[in-house]
Amino acid sequence: MEHTLPELPFKPDSLAPHISAETFEYHHGKHHAAYVNNLNKLIKGTEFENMTLEEIISKAKGPVFNNAAQHWNHSFFWKCLRSKQTPELDEGFMMLINKTFGSLDSLKTKFSEAALSLFGSGWVWLVDNRDETLSIVSTQNAGSPASEGKKPLLVIDVWEHAYYIDYRNKRADYIEAFWPLINWDFVMRNHMKEKK
Ligand SMILES: [Fe+2]
Repeated sequence: MEHTLPELPFKPDSLAPHISAETFEYHHGKHHAAYVNNLNKLIKGTEFENMTLEEIISKAKGPVFNNAAQHWNHSFFWKCLRSKQTPELDEGFMMLINKTFGSLDSLKTKFSEAALSLFGSGWVWLVDNRDETLSIVSTQNAGSPASEGKKPLLVIDVWEHAYYIDYRNKRADYIEAFWPLINWDFVMRNHMKEKK
């Protein structure tokens, strides 16, 4: 099965000045594309060739896992972003956030601290623990919380390639800029899917 680079769900210049078109040109057009190309090359003629992306991620190790998981993580990350005004969170989801973190502000603070303190390259996730609770989880490199049975709701990419063009070494500024770009509709839909 040939894996393909998904289109961005927004125009690449529509998130500026928070994230520039140039960042997407590299992050999506070069980095994400390279993971997809590498994956296709690596699985050719192997047991992974006819598996779905999710099956590969659950079974592979080493370079195949890394490229497959990076493909999945980036595809998910693009969907977490939106150019339009962030809508109101629905009451039920807000109650769950309040129950878990105390408030939306407190979730933001904890999520941002986790994203800032992650050493090296990786991802910070808001996950559904599948028991009516939420958590913030950090994963190194290509790691995914799905490997531990948790359902991803939201993610921020904190690899340097995600912010170096716009923010150089200032990861904190990138994290602050990320917050108003969150597609809460997508986050809530992920949570609803989990409940069914
Ligand atoms: Fe990335």
